[in-house]
Amino acid sequence: MIAKCVLLALLVAFASASPTQDSSMLTYRDALDMFLDAWKKMLPCGFAADNIPAMAPLTVDFFPFDYVNGETNLKGNVSNIRVSGLDNFQILSGSYNQSTLHATFDVMYPALQILGSYEVEGVLSIGGLLMPIRQKVLINKKITDWRFVGEYTFGQSLTNSNGLRIADFNLQYFVGGVVAANWDQYMDIAGNNYFNSFINSFSVLFTEEIQPYVTPLYEKYVLPSINSLLSNLDMTQLTNYFAMQAELWNNAACTVQA
Ligand SMILES: *[C@@H]1O[C@H](CO)[C@@H](O)[C@H](O)[C@H]1NC(C)=O
Ligand SMILES: *[C@@H]1O[C@H](CO)[C@@H](O)[C@H](O)[C@H]1NC(C)=O
Repeated sequence: MIAKCVLLALLVAFASASPTQDSSMLTYRDALDMFLDAWKKMLPCGFAADNIPAMAPLTVDFFPFDYVNGETNLKGNVSNIRVSGLDNFQILSGSYNQSTLHATFDVMYPALQILGSYEVEGVLSIGGLLMPIRQKVLINKKITDWRFVGEYTFGQSLTNSNGLRIADFNLQYFVGGVVAANWDQYMDIAGNNYFNSFINSFSVLFTEEIQPYVTPLYEKYVLPSINSLLSNLDMTQLTNYFAMQAELWNNAACTVQA
């Protein structure tokens, strides 16, 4: 669930090289501006033709899991998940230089709220130490000021000389704060307070610790599929693609309120 949110947030961040009009011809920047605006409006409805679910809010009714790895054995389910705030991103700054093909972006989600519940039972093995796990938790979590700052440069595709690829990529992300007010019905108040404060400080610490790995992870897992799509497009086609996609979403005229 969280991984999916991160991926969607990155998609938006990736597409956020600045919106300003500077010529009568449709530029990459103009097309991105239209694309992001249309994306924001489409999110409460989703777009079935592109397999995009409604994401403002993003909901998951029920998701069972059964995870076995060595001596670890966790079985449970996640239910009634609701993530709101994905359509409320702000573009703090951005730029695109048409001669160097270099783009920068700075995008922030002011507040994401995650509500839902999960149950898990089983045994967790940490370095040979076996820990029994039994949790039944109401999830109530808020992430504030989740910010993505990055830059990229378009280059020539390595597989198609007419196509594009992202040649250079650099990304950092920051979390302003995490407030968890989860409730595990198998624990008392003190236990719940303890775990919530642990989650809050650990989440922020984790964000700091993970910084050096963000760009390499993105390069390994996300860029190859983006580059494979880009290899079929030149700059004009990419610009037209963003503009056309924006028009399709706008024509669907989503009127659901997020
Ligand atoms: C998962 O959900 C079902 C309800 O459909 C419940 O009966 C079951 O006990 C849940 N918990 C676990 C740990 O599997
Ligand atoms: C684009 O980059 C070139 C080369 O670095 C620079 O000379 C030019 O001023 C830049 N253009 C804009 C609009 O920033």
